[in-house]
Amino acid sequence: MVHWSSLLPILGSAFSLTAAAPPEEPTAQVVPGAYIVELAENHDSASFYNTLGTDKVAVKHRMKLDYKLFKGTSFQLQNVSDVDDAAAKIANMAMVKQIWPVRIYHMPQDEVVWTGQDKNLAQSALQKRQAGGNTTDTFSTHVMTQVDKLHAQGITGKGTKIAVIDSGIDYLHPALGGGFGEGHLVSYGTDLVGDNYSGFNTPVPDDDPIDECAGHGSHVAGIVAAQANPFGFTGAAPDVTLGAYRVFGCDGPASNDVLIAAYNQAFEDGSDIITASIGGASGWTEEPWAVAVSRIVDQGVPCILSAGNIGSEGLFYASTAANGKGITAVASIDNIRNPQVITNATYSTGNSSTNSSTESFGWTPGSPAKWGNVSLPLWNINNDPTDTANGCDPYPADTPDLSEYIVLIHRGTCTFVEKVTNAVNAGAKYVLIYNNVEGLFSVSAAVDGVLAIGVVTKETGEEWVADLAAGITVTVNIIDPTVAPIVVTQPPNTATGGFLSTYTSWGPTYEVDIKPQVAAPGGLILSTYPRALGSYAVLSGTSMACPLAAAITALVAEVRGTFDPTELQNALSTTSNPNLFNDGATTYPYLAPVAQQGSGLIQAYDAAYTKTVLSVSSISFNDTDNLIETTNFTITNTGTEDVTYGIANVVAASGYTLDKGTILPMLFPNELVTEGAKLSFSEDKVTVPAGSEVAVSVSVSPPALDSARLPVYSGYITLNGTNGDSLSLPYLGVVGSMHDATVLDTKHTYITRSNDTSSSPLPANSTFTIPSMNGTAPNATAVLPVAVTYLALGTPLLDIQILPTDGYNSSSLGSIFGFPTSYVPRKQSTWTWNGQLVDGSFAPAGTYKFGVKALHIFGDASKESEYDTAETVSFTIKYS
Ligand SMILES: *[C@@H]1O[C@H](CO)[C@@H](O)[C@H](O)[C@H]1NC(C)=O
Ligand SMILES: *[C@@H]1O[C@H](CO)[C@@H](O)[C@H](O)[C@H]1NC(C)=O
Ligand SMILES: *[C@@H]1O[C@H](CO)[C@@H](O)[C@H](O)[C@H]1NC(C)=O
Ligand SMILES: *[C@@H]1O[C@H](CO)[C@@H](O)[C@H](O)[C@H]1NC(C)=O
Ligand SMILES: *[C@@H]1O[C@H](CO)[C@@H](O)[C@H](O)[C@H]1NC(C)=O
Ligand SMILES: *[C@@H]1O[C@H](CO)[C@@H](O)[C@H](O)[C@H]1NC(C)=O
Ligand SMILES: *[C@@H]1O[C@H](CO)[C@@H](O)[C@H](O)[C@H]1NC(C)=O
Ligand SMILES: *[C@@H]1O[C@H](CO)[C@@H](O)[C@H](O)[C@H]1NC(C)=O
Ligand SMILES: *[C@@H]1O[C@H](CO)[C@@H](O)[C@H](O)[C@H]1NC(C)=O
Ligand SMILES: *[C@@H]1O[C@H](CO)[C@@H](O)[C@H](O)[C@H]1NC(C)=O
Repeated sequence: MVHWSSLLPILGSAFSLTAAAPPEEPTAQVVPGAYIVELAENHDSASFYNTLGTDKVAVKHRMKLDYKLFKGTSFQLQNVSDVDDAAAKIANMAMVKQIWPVRIYHMPQDEVVWTGQDKNLAQSALQKRQAGGNTTDTFSTHVMTQVDKLHAQGITGKGTKIAVIDSGIDYLHPALGGGFGEGHLVSYGTDLVGDNYSGFNTPVPDDDPIDECAGHGSHVAGIVAAQANPFGFTGAAPDVTLGAYRVFGCDGPASNDVLIAAYNQAFEDGSDIITASIGGASGWTEEPWAVAVSRIVDQGVPCILSAGNIGSEGLFYASTAANGKGITAVASIDNIRNPQVITNATYSTGNSSTNSSTESFGWTPGSPAKWGNVSLPLWNINNDPTDTANGCDPYPADTPDLSEYIVLIHRGTCTFVEKVTNAVNAGAKYVLIYNNVEGLFSVSAAVDGVLAIGVVTKETGEEWVADLAAGITVTVNIIDPTVAPIVVTQPPNTATGGFLSTYTSWGPTYEVDIKPQVAAPGGLILSTYPRALGSYAVLSGTSMACPLAAAITALVAEVRGTFDPTELQNALSTTSNPNLFNDGATTYPYLAPVAQQGSGLIQAYDAAYTKTVLSVSSISFNDTDNLIETTNFTITNTGTEDVTYGIANVVAASGYTLDKGTILPMLFPNELVTEGAKLSFSEDKVTVPAGSEVAVSVSVSPPALDSARLPVYSGYITLNGTNGDSLSLPYLGVVGSMHDATVLDTKHTYITRSNDTSSSPLPANSTFTIPSMNGTAPNATAVLPVAVTYLALGTPLLDIQILPTDGYNSSSLGSIFGFPTSYVPRKQSTWTWNGQLVDGSFAPAGTYKFGVKALHIFGDASKESEYDTAETVSFTIKYS
């Protein structure tokens, strides 16, 4: 099983100081014994299973994949003791074109910044409605992307069908149409998996794609097409119809056979555009899900995918299926506004009803939130607003019974759980945290005994503390948050607004395909949420950028009168605005690399109306070995006047992939330098007559940078037309040889035990007793040998063999079951071995080593010299 560890999307916002960290992405990525096969023409899954039956291979059927663009099936090997070589036999069947292991992919771990508290919120009236009759779209992400300008012209995506592949959609939410089927916003789709699907078990499909327990899909759907609502926003394409294809259960990831089925079903149901905010680290266009999506793009349906939230890993960390050919991978930019939803309450100061005054304040309920109507005086452990460790220690013995107070605690130093626990131990039932930075956030502290918690701003908290210090009683009157008035405020995001989100994953692929294509606002996005989970939420991630790009694709298609994926991708890419590099804290005076931002921030209006159409969306010059020294693109002038274009090269920062003197990639932020490529053009000024096209050739001279560190250079070819069109065409290349780079980190390739969650290396000559394999798989308590591999860069082919104790000097017993495996992402993977070999037989009891071989990028699999190899220490297996 593969371990993809990843850092979490942490915003440059101040909200991550002591807030609970989002869960880490689960690590297991291959479903043991499960395979996808693609069948040759004129065969279907029925004939496949008939043949298997004749051959006595016991399998459990998973997904039927009988589609126009993908004919195959997926299955789980049930029982391999009855045939020696089940998988090998299947792979060799004449009707099987390809066989791949079933892998699992996660929803990107988006940051939940805020969620509503109550399902009634969907119906409740807000105090600050958008002024009636004023149809100006002022939603900040729409202003950033020129969606407001298209809305002003009545371009809203009418008639377009967008499929959303995700956790389903809460279509009963009033802002998501209130129903399902013909005539509703969510007019088609299906549930491919059922609530209890975990990614590993067998999906249980049904017809109803409602999202009541996950939330992700409902947020995504609202970004595309939310209807007018009390929060004063709509989706970017509110007149499209949506198809909901549910591929996630309530918890957990989705497997690629389910994703391939969902895409093909969405395609066959006539979707015009397909969007999915799902992915996993890969870097390979050949992964089967990416291959399936690329085929749909080739059929004329634009497929938009999130680039991934693993920017922390630096360059060459493209996610699948976004990394597939022809697919539009979308990077995330932080919103220029920081939407905050504030609940209103009042407080009064003064010691008697005669001299007290009442004022309102804004706050956010946390979890738990059993507030109801509460009117109690405040109490604080001390009245020092500079004490950030406030409430971190147990309260003194002389503390009064706090059940008759609301306890006010400053944020900082220790966890919310510790602070709330100390207060509860002194009797507290209600706690308000006051922030130590600007703004509000969602707090959560599940502590026995506390009824409700919440957050107030720094200013409110400091004001109260000053009153308390002056001996003034402060009485807080909380109105039950399920009915209290709420207001949406959108203060500017001064730290990171408009810049690439630090969490957005970087390309290119290992074969130097440019990824991502474009960028869109994804950080700090207000949208709909399932009623059961609070009705509205603010989330951050490339998951939020992707549906906005998909909606914009619909708007641009409406104006341009075509869904042609190439034309739309080219128009979106060449009219986007590249931005400077920002590392979450500081902005630098150079453009962010194309590997991070693609073409830059999408400009919907410019893409819709540009009269200048280029034949490509970007140019990869490949690496030094495969350098494309000269290439060309055409400029088509679709206007009615002749246009002269000035052509120039604007370089972006170049980034070093590898750390100095190592084989390992640098983590974010990669070392960036300003030396870029020199480009020369066949002409620096070219006149294109109305309705004509002209080819321009481009020659590249890559920068002289340390090729051992695989620097990635990039920039933009700019075209300024005399008609006012201004385009920029992203390009990228690698200095050095991808082929010669070391892919296997032999120092970190070793053996461990399956019961060791930290995967520590074992000394030589450990013994494993493998339960008898006669007809059954070992159960979860069996302690098995595990090969741990560490890939410095992805490999197109990874093999693990069982070697005698003198290693590769002797002849191998062959690969372990399921190997070799193709297109493996970089970083650590763990592969548990139960004694079975690739032909289905079991290795005899004895002493062995694992031999690991990883093929170089662009390597020739038939040549031994093209692999990096490593051997583990010896270990002994016995069978019980
Ligand atoms: C495995 O297959 C054999 C032969 O088909 C059968 O006798 C045996 O019961 C099966 N074992 C399991 C665990 O399914
Ligand atoms: C609509 O509201 C926007 C923003 O509040 C304002 O700038 C604009 O002038 C208004 N338009 C009309 C027609 O009232
Ligand atoms: C909500 O609170 C704000 C100030 O925090 C105040 O201006 C507004 O009037 C309040 N609204 C209601 C309905 O109480
Ligand atoms: C780079 O060159 C290799 C080897 O010819 C090729 O396989 C790969 O597709 C090329 N990449 C691009 C983006 O052209
Ligand atoms: C333009 O480049 C393409 C490959 O990108 C090549 O096939 C074609 O021959 C080139 N055309 C000219 C006129 O150079
Ligand atoms: C195109 O216009 C931009 C912005 O005005 C300018 O920075 C750039 O130098 C111009 N390029 C050419 C080739 O004229
Ligand atoms: C794992 O199993 C081995 C052998 O049975 C045992 O010695 C070791 O203590 C176990 N480790 C853990 C962490 O359970
Ligand atoms: C492990 O066993 C092999 C022979 O089976 C022996 O040559 C080697 O020295 C042993 N290594 C250790 C560390 O005990
Ligand atoms: C799992 O296998 C171990 C070792 O063979 C055995 O002792 C244990 O009873 C088994 N547990 C279960 C739940 O079958
Ligand atoms: C598997 O079990 C059967 C029946 O218990 C036995 O006859 C056979 O020898 C066993 N095979 C192996 C490889 O242990």
